[in-house]
Amino acid sequence: MNLSKLFELLESEINKDFSKTKVLEYKSPNEMIEHLDLDIQDESQGEIDLYNSIDKYLSGSVDTAHPLFSNQLWAGRNYPALISEFVTTLRNTSVYTYETAPAATIIENYMIDTLCKKMGYKSGDGTFLTGSSNANLISLLVARNTLFPEIKRNGLSSLPELCFFVSEHSHYSFEKAANVLGFGEENVIKVKADDNHRMIPSDLESCINKAIKDGKKPFYVCGTAGTTEVGAFDPLVELQEIAKKHNLWFHTDGAWGGALIFSNKHKHLLKGIENSDSISWDAHKLMGIPLICSVILLKDSNQLLPAVCEQTSDYLFHEHEYDDLDLGKKSIQCGRRVDSLKLWLSFKYYGMKGYEERIDKMVSLAEYLTQKVESNPSFELLAPTTYCNVNFRYKPEIDLTLEEINGINLKARDEMYKEGIALFNYCYINEKLSIRFILSNPDVNVSDLDYILETFQLKCEKHISLTV
Ligand SMILES: Cc1ncc(COP(=O)(O)O)c(C=O)c1O
Repeated sequence: MNLSKLFELLESEINKDFSKTKVLEYKSPNEMIEHLDLDIQDESQGEIDLYNSIDKYLSGSVDTAHPLFSNQLWAGRNYPALISEFVTTLRNTSVYTYETAPAATIIENYMIDTLCKKMGYKSGDGTFLTGSSNANLISLLVARNTLFPEIKRNGLSSLPELCFFVSEHSHYSFEKAANVLGFGEENVIKVKADDNHRMIPSDLESCINKAIKDGKKPFYVCGTAGTTEVGAFDPLVELQEIAKKHNLWFHTDGAWGGALIFSNKHKHLLKGIENSDSISWDAHKLMGIPLICSVILLKDSNQLLPAVCEQTSDYLFHEHEYDDLDLGKKSIQCGRRVDSLKLWLSFKYYGMKGYEERIDKMVSLAEYLTQKVESNPSFELLAPTTYCNVNFRYKPEIDLTLEEINGINLKARDEMYKEGIALFNYCYINEKLSIRFILSNPDVNVSDLDYILETFQLKCEKHISLTV
C-alpha cells in the first residue's frame, strides 16, 4: 500500500491555516448520506476510493482542532498523542496480559502509579477505561463490593435498599450507573447546590438522615471537581467529613477538573482529593489527549481486583512468574486498548511544566472571556467562572420575554454553527439559555475570543430586529 497520500494528508493538517478554513461545512443528514457515497461493493474499490472516502469523511466532520471549536470539554490537537494512536494500532494489542502486551503493561502501571502519586495516593491502584462515565460506574461497583462483599455471590436482593448521594449538578452518568448496577435511578439522591453550583454540605447531611429514616442504606457520596456545565468545584473536605461520619465511601468525579492537579497555581481547588476513596479523571478533556483516555484511581490498592473480577479464564490468564502483572483481571473489559501510551508520550513530549503552562493559559483565557462578557452591557454572565467554563447570554436592553431571549441566543448560536463560523455549546441555567463556552484548546488566543463574541453579538442583534 502506498502511504505517501497519508503523509500528504498529515502534512496538510499540520500546516493548516485555520484563518482560511471553517469549523465545518454543514450538511443535513440527507446531504451527508449523499456526500459520503456509502455503498459497499462486492469488489474492492482500491486505494483511490479509500483516499476519496477519507477525504469525504474529513470534509464531512467538525474540525475539533479549529480554534473556533469550543463545544465540548475536549478540543484541539495533540501531535505526540496522535502519533501514539498510530503506533498503538501498529502493534494492535489488548492490554490484558503481560504476555500479549509487555511494554503496554509496564507503561500503564507506570502511568497509574504516577497519577496516583500526583493525586496524593501513597500506594493506590487503578486502570485505564472507556471514559469517566465508566469510571464513575466502577467507583460505585468497587464501593459497593468493598462495603458489602457478599453481594458478589448473592446479588442485590441480599441487601437493604442501597442509595448514594451526588450533587444536583453532577454528571448524568450516575443515573446510568445506577441503572446498570441495579440500584435504580430513585436511589441516586440529588443534593442541593448553592448559587455557585457547589454542593451544600448541610443538605448532604439532611439527605443522608432522611434516606436512613426512609429505611434506605446510604453507602456512597460523590463530590464533583469541575462540574460539566459551569466548572464548579464541590467543597471536598467538608463533604468528606460528613461521609466519614456516616461510614460512606467518598468518590471525587474529577473527569473535567482533575487536570488542575498539574497546576501549582490552581490545584487548591482540589483540596481534599487525596482523601477520596476513588477518583475519576479524563485525560481526553483538558489535557488534549485524543478520545478515549481515562482512568479510575483507588486510594487502597487492595480493592479494585476483588471488587471487579478475580474470576479469570484459563484460556487467557495463565499462571506464570509475572501473572500478577496481568491487568485484564482488574477490568470489566476483556479486550482493552492501550490508552496509556498516548498519555505517557504526551507527558514525555510536553513535560509536566508544559502541561502546567497549558492549563494555566486555559484558565486565564476563561478569565479574559469573563471580563469581556462582564464589561459588555449586552451580555450577562450566568454563573461565576472558576475554571475553563464561561456561561453567559446575550441580553438586550429592551424588554423581551425569557422565551424570546432564549430564542435569540439559540438562533444566533445555531446560525454560527451552520455557517461553519464557530461551534460552542449551551445549557439552561434557571431556565435561561446559557452559552456554555469551554476553553480547552491550547491554540486559542484572545483574538479568537474577541471575534466569536463580536460575531455572536451581531447575530443576536440581527435576530432581535426580526423578533420585535
Ligand atoms: C463531571 C463529568 N463527569 C463525567 C463525565 C463523563 O465523561 P466521559 O465522557 O469520559 O464518559 C463528564 C463528561 O463530560 C463530566 O463532565
